[in-house]
Amino acid sequence: MTQSSATRWHSFDSQDNINQAATARILQAANEAIQAQGSFYVVLAGGSTPKAVYQLLSEQQADWANWHVFHNDDRCLPVDHEERNSKMARDAWLSKVAIPEQKIHDIPAELGNVAGAKAYAETLKDVRTFDLVILGLGEDGHTASLFPNQTVDNSADAVPVFDAPKPPADRITISQSRLNNTKEVMFLVTGAGKQEAVDNWRNGAAIPATLITGNNGVEVYCFDVELK
Ligand code: 6PG
Repeated sequence: MTQSSATRWHSFDSQDNINQAATARILQAANEAIQAQGSFYVVLAGGSTPKAVYQLLSEQQADWANWHVFHNDDRCLPVDHEERNSKMARDAWLSKVAIPEQKIHDIPAELGNVAGAKAYAETLKDVRTFDLVILGLGEDGHTASLFPNQTVDNSADAVPVFDAPKPPADRITISQSRLNNTKEVMFLVTGAGKQEAVDNWRNGAAIPATLITGNNGVEVYCFDVELK
């Protein structure tokens, strides 16, 4: 499959419009994947931006039994800690729909970054190409837990992160190479705080977000940031 490095920017004029558009595309991607291969493999973004989309998804009808859910990263905190990405997704969405528990693959970040990354790499070992990877963008241009001036071992599917500049310092992230093994990438970027990172991105700076290209380029859904 030829790789497209195209980055396609989609600007929305309200928070509700970007949330509705992202929700619609995620559901459409799921329908396409399930129709084509009987399953949909989606990797969720953490942080706060995607929460409203997850809440909208919790209100939808979908062929949930054929969804397989992964996380692109998580923080090394107790499993029920409010700052865990897996808890945010479960509370906002996953606990409200009929995705089989065995198809929800939380990162075992409560084990610590080294042991948890090893365990998640094992989970990912036999997982086919993802259908959709959903990502956020940090103010410094990070995505998942791929931070500026930090390199990760791309020979592994999941890796420990130390000294992350966004607390907590210890995290686990799917590696750049494994995140790129996906048909589709959707970034969700909202808020003036992301303006500098978007400007740097569009001016060709090598921020970590540009490491993720997927097999068919990247869609960047934006609200409350200017595409100069
Ligand atoms: C995390 C996320 C991280 C996040 C960005 C944006 O664990 O924090 O994986 O990459 O997506 O920092 O976060 P907000 O959506 O909260 O702005």
